[in-house]
Amino acid sequence: MKSIYRIVAVIMAMMLLLTACGGGDQTEGDGNDGGAAEESDSSAEDGEATDPADAEDKDSGSGAEEPYIDYLVLVNHTHRLPDGWEEKLRLATTVNSVGDEVKVEKGAYNMYLLLKLALERKGIHVELDSAYRSVAEQQQIVDDFTEKYGAAYTKAYVAVPGYSEHHTGLALDLYLIVDGVTVYENEDLVQYPEIWAEIHELLPYYGFILRYPEGGNTGYAYEPWHIRFVGIGPAKEITERGIVLEEYLGEY
Ligand code: DAL
Ligand code: ZN
Repeated sequence: MKSIYRIVAVIMAMMLLLTACGGGDQTEGDGNDGGAAEESDSSAEDGEATDPADAEDKDSGSGAEEPYIDYLVLVNHTHRLPDGWEEKLRLATTVNSVGDEVKVEKGAYNMYLLLKLALERKGIHVELDSAYRSVAEQQQIVDDFTEKYGAAYTKAYVAVPGYSEHHTGLALDLYLIVDGVTVYENEDLVQYPEIWAEIHELLPYYGFILRYPEGGNTGYAYEPWHIRFVGIGPAKEITERGIVLEEYLGEY
C-alpha cells in the first residue's frame, strides 16, 4: 500500500508542478497550511516550465526540460550563494500557523505540500518556520542567536550571511504541532526523535534530504528540522547511500 501512496504522490506532484511552474499568475491552494499561498515571482521574466520532480532525468537523455535553477546548488561554509540566484528565483509565499510569512522556491513548495499531506495521514503535523532568507534576514538570525545562545552555539547552527542555503529558497526549517501544542524552539524540537524519524523516512519520496544529519560531515550540528529540496532522484540516492550533499557532489 505504501508504494501506491508514493506513486499517487509523484503523479500529484507532477500535475502540481506542471500548473505551478509554467509561468503566469496562479494562486496556489493553501494545502491546509494555515493560510493561502500565493505566487510572488521574483524573477524579471517568465522562464520555461520546470519540473524538479524530474531532476533524476537531468542527465538521462530523456529530453526533459532543464530546470530554471540548479536544484543541486551547493551553498555551505565555503560556497557562497551564486551571483544572480535571487534574480532568477521564483518564490511562493505562505503564512504559517503562528502568522509568520514564509517564502519558498515554488517547486520545492509544491513538494513540501505533498510531504505535509503525507505526514498528516500519519498523524504528524508540520509547519514552516523559515525557508528563503535574504542576507539581511540571516544576519538578524546570527545577531539574535548570538544574544540568546552565545557565539559557539550560533557558529554550530547558523550560517554566515551569504553562505546559508536558506538564500536559495530550497532549504526549509520545520516546526511541529504535537497534540495541538506548537513546538517551535530548537531545544524543544529535539525532544521528539520518534516524530523526526518518521518525517525523515518520507523525505526522499518528495525530493528532500535531511541536510545536516547526525555525524554528517557538513560543518554544522545535527538539525532534524532543516530539510533541503534536491529532486527525487538525488534525494533517494543521497539517503540510500547515507551521504551528505557535499559527498554526493564530490565537493567540500
Ligand atoms: N542552519 C543553517 C546552517 C543555516 O543557517 O543556513
Ligand atoms: Zn535551516
